[in-house]
Amino acid sequence: MTTLTPPVVIPEQGRRIAFVGKGGTGKSTIIAHMLKHWNAAGIPASAMDADEPGDEEKGSLLEWSDEADLGGPVYPAPNRSKVRDQLVKYTPEGGLLAVDTGAWNRKAGNMHFAVLSGVDLAVLTLPPTRMEMNRAGSVLAAIDHLEEVGAHFPRLVICLTLTNASAKAADTTYRDLTGGGFTVLKTRIPRVDKEDGYGQSYGLEPQLVAGSPMDLLAVELAKEAAA
Ligand SMILES: Nc1ncnc2c1ncn2[C@@H]1O[C@H](COP(=O)(O)OP(=O)(O)OP(=O)(O)O)[C@@H](O)[C@H]1O
Ligand SMILES: [Mg+2]
Repeated sequence: MTTLTPPVVIPEQGRRIAFVGKGGTGKSTIIAHMLKHWNAAGIPASAMDADEPGDEEKGSLLEWSDEADLGGPVYPAPNRSKVRDQLVKYTPEGGLLAVDTGAWNRKAGNMHFAVLSGVDLAVLTLPPTRMEMNRAGSVLAAIDHLEEVGAHFPRLVICLTLTNASAKAADTTYRDLTGGGFTVLKTRIPRVDKEDGYGQSYGLEPQLVAGSPMDLLAVELAKEAAA
Protein backbone atom coordinates (compact mmCIF):
# COMPACT_ATOMS: atom_id res chain seq x y z
CA MET A 1 0.00 0.00 0.00
CA THR A 2 2.66 2.46 1.02
CA THR A 3 6.39 2.06 1.50
CA LEU A 4 6.40 3.85 4.86
CA THR A 5 7.88 0.79 6.55
CA PRO A 6 9.46 0.73 8.99
CA PRO A 7 7.22 3.59 10.06
CA VAL A 8 8.79 6.99 10.55
CA VAL A 9 8.36 8.19 14.12
CA ILE A 10 7.30 11.83 14.38
CA PRO A 11 8.06 13.53 17.73
CA GLU A 12 5.15 13.75 20.13
CA GLN A 13 4.52 17.48 19.63
CA GLY A 14 4.10 16.85 15.90
CA ARG A 15 5.63 18.64 12.94
CA ARG A 16 4.30 21.29 10.55
CA ILE A 17 5.12 21.45 6.84
CA ALA A 18 4.16 24.43 4.67
CA PHE A 19 3.96 24.09 0.90
CA VAL A 20 4.81 27.25 -0.97
CA GLY A 21 5.27 27.97 -4.65
CA LYS A 22 3.85 29.66 -7.68
CA GLY A 23 0.23 29.05 -8.66
CA GLY A 24 -0.33 25.76 -10.41
CA THR A 25 2.87 24.06 -9.32
CA GLY A 26 1.05 21.20 -7.61
CA LYS A 27 0.89 22.27 -3.94
CA SER A 28 -2.72 21.25 -3.32
CA THR A 29 -2.41 18.07 -5.37
CA ILE A 30 0.66 17.01 -3.42
CA ILE A 31 -0.90 17.76 -0.04
CA ALA A 32 -4.03 15.73 -0.86
CA HIS A 33 -1.83 12.76 -1.74
CA MET A 34 0.43 13.23 1.29
CA LEU A 35 -2.55 13.26 3.66
CA LYS A 36 -3.80 10.00 2.21
CA HIS A 37 -0.40 8.31 2.33
CA TRP A 38 0.60 9.48 5.79
CA ASN A 39 -2.70 8.48 7.37
CA ALA A 40 -2.63 5.10 5.60
CA ALA A 41 0.86 4.55 7.00
CA GLY A 42 -0.30 5.27 10.53
CA ILE A 43 1.05 8.81 10.77
CA PRO A 44 -1.83 11.04 11.91
CA ALA A 45 -1.97 13.87 9.41
CA SER A 46 -4.18 16.92 8.91
CA ALA A 47 -4.01 19.95 6.67
CA MET A 48 -4.75 23.64 6.85
CA ASP A 49 -5.80 25.53 3.76
CA ALA A 50 -4.14 28.92 4.26
CA ASP A 51 -5.03 30.50 0.95
CA GLU A 52 -6.08 34.05 1.87
CA PRO A 53 -9.85 34.26 2.08
CA GLY A 54 -10.88 35.68 -1.26
CA ASP A 55 -8.18 33.74 -3.12
CA GLU A 56 -10.34 30.74 -2.47
CA GLU A 57 -11.20 29.63 -5.98
CA LYS A 58 -12.47 26.41 -7.34
CA GLY A 59 -9.70 23.87 -6.96
CA SER A 60 -8.88 24.43 -3.31
CA LEU A 61 -7.75 21.70 -0.98
CA LEU A 62 -10.69 22.47 1.27
CA GLU A 63 -13.20 21.74 -1.50
CA TRP A 64 -11.30 18.60 -2.47
CA SER A 65 -11.65 17.32 1.09
CA ASP A 66 -15.42 17.90 0.89
CA GLU A 67 -15.61 15.73 -2.19
CA ALA A 68 -13.30 12.87 -1.30
CA ASP A 69 -11.80 11.08 1.68
CA LEU A 70 -8.26 12.38 2.03
CA GLY A 71 -7.61 10.28 5.12
CA GLY A 72 -7.48 13.26 7.47
CA PRO A 73 -9.23 16.57 8.07
CA VAL A 74 -8.59 19.82 6.20
CA TYR A 75 -9.19 23.00 8.19
CA PRO A 76 -10.05 26.36 6.60
CA ALA A 77 -7.73 29.34 6.72
CA PRO A 78 -8.11 31.20 9.97
CA ASN A 79 -7.77 34.93 10.32
CA ARG A 80 -4.15 35.89 9.65
CA SER A 81 -3.54 37.10 13.20
CA LYS A 82 -4.63 33.72 14.55
CA VAL A 83 -2.65 31.56 12.13
CA ARG A 84 0.20 30.66 14.45
CA ASP A 85 -2.08 29.55 17.29
CA GLN A 86 -4.23 27.58 14.90
CA LEU A 87 -1.22 25.89 13.37
CA VAL A 88 -0.30 24.53 16.78
CA LYS A 89 -3.88 23.60 17.62
CA TYR A 90 -4.40 21.61 14.41
CA THR A 91 -1.12 19.66 14.60
CA PRO A 92 -1.92 16.04 15.50
CA GLU A 93 0.02 14.54 18.38
CA GLY A 94 2.89 12.53 16.95
CA GLY A 95 1.77 13.51 13.48
CA LEU A 96 2.01 16.00 10.66
CA LEU A 97 0.16 19.16 9.67
CA ALA A 98 0.49 20.13 6.00
CA VAL A 99 -0.23 23.78 5.25
CA ASP A 100 -1.41 24.79 1.80
CA THR A 101 -0.68 28.39 0.80
CA GLY A 102 -1.80 30.70 -1.97
CA ALA A 103 0.31 31.35 -5.04
CA TRP A 104 3.72 32.84 -4.23
CA ASN A 105 4.03 35.74 -6.62
CA ARG A 106 7.06 37.97 -6.75
CA LYS A 107 7.19 38.15 -3.03
CA ALA A 108 5.50 36.71 -0.02
CA GLY A 109 2.33 38.19 1.38
CA ASN A 110 1.60 38.58 5.08
CA MET A 111 -0.17 35.23 5.17
CA HIS A 112 2.96 33.57 3.78
CA PHE A 113 5.07 35.15 6.50
CA ALA A 114 2.59 34.13 9.20
CA VAL A 115 2.63 30.54 7.95
CA LEU A 116 6.41 30.35 7.46
CA SER A 117 7.03 31.62 10.98
CA GLY A 118 4.85 28.84 12.39
CA VAL A 119 6.13 25.73 10.63
CA ASP A 120 9.17 23.46 10.95
CA LEU A 121 9.70 22.78 7.27
CA ALA A 122 8.90 24.73 4.10
CA VAL A 123 8.60 22.83 0.83
CA LEU A 124 8.96 24.92 -2.30
CA THR A 125 7.24 23.29 -5.25
CA LEU A 126 9.28 24.19 -8.31
CA PRO A 127 8.95 23.16 -11.94
CA PRO A 128 12.50 22.77 -13.31
CA THR A 129 12.63 25.64 -15.75
CA ARG A 130 15.20 28.40 -15.82
CA MET A 131 12.48 30.99 -15.32
CA GLU A 132 11.45 29.43 -12.02
CA MET A 133 14.91 29.26 -10.49
CA ASN A 134 14.97 32.70 -8.89
CA ARG A 135 11.78 31.86 -7.04
CA ALA A 136 13.93 29.70 -4.76
CA GLY A 137 15.95 32.82 -3.97
CA SER A 138 12.83 34.82 -3.19
CA VAL A 139 11.54 32.17 -0.76
CA LEU A 140 14.94 31.97 0.88
CA ALA A 141 15.00 35.77 1.21
CA ALA A 142 11.64 35.67 3.01
CA ILE A 143 12.97 33.04 5.40
CA ASP A 144 16.13 35.10 5.95
CA HIS A 145 13.93 38.06 6.77
CA LEU A 146 12.18 36.06 9.51
CA GLU A 147 15.56 35.10 10.91
CA GLU A 148 16.71 38.75 10.86
CA VAL A 149 13.70 39.96 12.81
CA GLY A 150 14.19 37.20 15.36
CA ALA A 151 11.10 35.22 14.36
CA HIS A 152 10.93 31.47 14.16
CA PHE A 153 11.84 30.28 10.67
CA PRO A 154 11.59 26.92 8.89
CA ARG A 155 14.14 24.81 7.08
CA LEU A 156 13.64 25.05 3.30
CA VAL A 157 13.63 22.10 0.93
CA ILE A 158 12.79 22.18 -2.76
CA CYS A 159 10.56 19.64 -4.49
CA LEU A 160 10.84 19.55 -8.28
CA THR A 161 7.34 19.19 -9.70
CA LEU A 162 5.68 18.80 -13.10
CA THR A 163 8.88 17.22 -14.40
CA ASN A 164 9.00 15.60 -17.83
CA ALA A 165 9.79 12.03 -18.72
CA SER A 166 13.09 13.21 -20.12
CA ALA A 167 14.85 14.15 -16.91
CA LYS A 168 17.39 16.52 -18.45
CA ALA A 169 15.89 19.83 -17.31
CA ALA A 170 15.23 18.44 -13.83
CA ASP A 171 18.78 17.10 -13.60
CA THR A 172 20.25 20.46 -14.61
CA THR A 173 18.02 22.33 -12.16
CA TYR A 174 18.89 19.86 -9.41
CA ARG A 175 22.61 20.43 -10.01
CA ASP A 176 22.27 24.21 -10.15
CA LEU A 177 20.18 24.40 -6.97
CA THR A 178 22.29 21.99 -4.92
CA GLY A 179 25.39 23.81 -6.22
CA GLY A 180 23.81 27.01 -4.90
CA GLY A 181 23.48 25.48 -1.43
CA PHE A 182 19.78 24.55 -1.61
CA THR A 183 18.42 21.23 -0.38
CA VAL A 184 16.53 19.50 -3.17
CA LEU A 185 14.43 16.41 -2.42
CA LYS A 186 15.36 13.22 -4.25
CA THR A 187 11.74 12.54 -5.15
CA ARG A 188 10.34 14.44 -8.12
CA ILE A 189 6.67 14.69 -8.98
CA PRO A 190 6.31 14.12 -12.71
CA ARG A 191 3.65 15.71 -14.87
CA VAL A 192 1.12 12.92 -15.46
CA ASP A 193 -1.85 13.97 -17.58
CA LYS A 194 -3.36 10.61 -18.43
CA GLU A 195 -6.79 9.62 -17.20
CA ASP A 196 -5.69 8.18 -13.84
CA GLY A 197 -2.74 10.57 -13.53
CA TYR A 198 -2.07 13.28 -10.95
CA GLY A 199 -3.37 15.96 -13.33
CA GLN A 200 -6.84 14.37 -13.27
CA SER A 201 -6.91 13.51 -9.58
CA TYR A 202 -8.62 16.66 -8.27
CA GLY A 203 -11.78 15.85 -6.33
CA LEU A 204 -11.02 12.12 -6.25
CA GLU A 205 -9.68 9.92 -3.49
CA PRO A 206 -5.90 9.84 -3.97
CA GLN A 207 -4.67 6.39 -4.97
CA LEU A 208 -2.15 4.63 -2.76
CA VAL A 209 0.41 3.13 -5.11
CA ALA A 210 3.49 1.68 -3.45
CA GLY A 211 6.67 3.01 -5.00
CA SER A 212 4.88 5.80 -6.88
CA PRO A 213 6.33 9.34 -6.76
CA MET A 214 3.67 10.47 -4.24
CA ASP A 215 4.37 7.43 -2.07
CA LEU A 216 8.13 8.06 -2.14
CA LEU A 217 7.59 11.76 -1.42
CA ALA A 218 5.43 10.88 1.60
CA VAL A 219 8.30 8.81 2.98
CA GLU A 220 10.98 11.40 2.20
CA LEU A 221 8.97 14.29 3.68
CA ALA A 222 8.02 12.39 6.83
CA LYS A 223 11.72 11.67 7.38
CA GLU A 224 12.66 15.31 6.68
CA ALA A 225 10.02 16.52 9.12
CA ALA A 226 11.06 14.05 11.81
CA ALA A 227 14.74 15.00 11.51
N1 LIG B 1 1.90 16.07 -11.32
C1 LIG B 1 0.96 16.65 -12.06
N2 LIG B 1 0.79 16.28 -13.36
C2 LIG B 1 -0.15 16.87 -14.13
N3 LIG B 1 -0.99 17.83 -13.71
C3 LIG B 1 -0.87 18.24 -12.43
C4 LIG B 1 0.10 17.69 -11.55
N4 LIG B 1 -0.02 18.31 -10.34
C5 LIG B 1 -1.02 19.18 -10.47
N5 LIG B 1 -1.54 19.15 -11.72
C6 LIG B 1 -2.64 19.97 -12.23
O1 LIG B 1 -2.19 21.32 -12.32
C7 LIG B 1 -3.19 22.22 -11.82
C8 LIG B 1 -2.65 22.95 -10.60
O2 LIG B 1 -2.39 22.02 -9.56
P1 LIG B 1 -2.61 22.41 -8.04
O3 LIG B 1 -3.94 22.99 -7.85
O4 LIG B 1 -2.24 21.23 -7.22
O5 LIG B 1 -1.50 23.55 -7.90
P2 LIG B 1 -1.34 24.65 -6.75
O6 LIG B 1 0.12 24.86 -6.62
O7 LIG B 1 -2.08 24.22 -5.54
O8 LIG B 1 -2.00 25.94 -7.39
P3 LIG B 1 -2.59 27.29 -6.65
O9 LIG B 1 -1.41 28.05 -6.14
O10 LIG B 1 -3.30 27.99 -7.75
O11 LIG B 1 -3.48 26.81 -5.55
C9 LIG B 1 -4.40 21.35 -11.51
O12 LIG B 1 -5.24 21.33 -12.65
C10 LIG B 1 -3.81 19.99 -11.27
O13 LIG B 1 -4.74 18.95 -11.55
MG1 LIG C 1 -3.64 25.16 -4.47
